[in-house]
Amino acid sequence: MNSIPRILVAEDELDTREVLGQMLEALGYEAQLAENGKDAFEAVTSRPPDLVLSDVMMPVMDGFELCQRIKANPDTRLVPVVLLTGLGGVEDRVRGIDSGADDFISKPFQLSELAARIRSLLRLKQFTDDLERAESIIFSLAMTVEAKDSYTEGHCKRLSSYSVSIGKRLGVSEDDLQALQRGGILHDIGKISIPDAILLKPGPLSPEEREIMRTHPIRGEEICKPLRSLQPSLPIIRHHHERMDGTGYPDQLVGEDIPLNARIIAAVDFVDALVTERPYRGPLPMKEALRMAHAAVENGHLDTNVVETVEEFVRSLGQDWTAGDPKMNGF
Ligand SMILES: [Fe+2]
Repeated sequence: MNSIPRILVAEDELDTREVLGQMLEALGYEAQLAENGKDAFEAVTSRPPDLVLSDVMMPVMDGFELCQRIKANPDTRLVPVVLLTGLGGVEDRVRGIDSGADDFISKPFQLSELAARIRSLLRLKQFTDDLERAESIIFSLAMTVEAKDSYTEGHCKRLSSYSVSIGKRLGVSEDDLQALQRGGILHDIGKISIPDAILLKPGPLSPEEREIMRTHPIRGEEICKPLRSLQPSLPIIRHHHERMDGTGYPDQLVGEDIPLNARIIAAVDFVDALVTERPYRGPLPMKEALRMAHAAVENGHLDTNVVETVEEFVRSLGQDWTAGDPKMNGF
């Protein structure tokens, strides 16, 4: 949030617009004025304000459409929008709620009501700003982990995008697809707490080193736990190294006790690791990677249904697994 909160007023009537501007400045805010929804929307997208105060009826673009567009844009969806409605404007309020408005103020408005509504919405905005910041720090941490090991370049993005495609084929819910998308990026974030001497060791790990390495799913879960928006991805982070026969870690879950999303990430992770170059070997052909994935099913490590779906997906891919930068679905 700006040090002096900036409030954008969208109002076609000159007098009302100026009065609102003066009121806001008297309350200690910076006021930015627009005379219709279109100008307001352009101002919001070029430099998002801390709050939008918008009239409903305006030429060119009305308040409902303005609100809808602000809420549909990922960069501005968290900007609170207050609609100024006529007294008793029940219909306006219903349409306003449908457009995603955060609050309403009836005209003619009272300075004290305006001040109180703005104060409480700005407090909420501060809170969501802080959460967004925390979330983006966690995602940058995950990318830092990946960047440490140049051999895994693009791994998290592929994992995220391909797991979503496989989740869709397996019919998982929209919420689970989002969890997969985020979990693909975040699954190894706990490696941030593993010493480089172990993480980047070229040779095989000693039993003690392996134990330390195996703490990464639990550490990753701890890092992401405080953020509510990441809750659905926690089971993926914790359980992506479980095996169907219960010989995985950290909880030795067996079969379908392992969350499906974690089984999906495990299978995609397995294939991706084989078809990309490693310090100790070149990339394997996809055919060989799939053969090994089926062998991992036989050995009780991977889920048979998931591996079959991965194979179907690979056949439908129409490009090399590692080619290009798979679409990030909004990331
Ligand atoms: Fe891992």
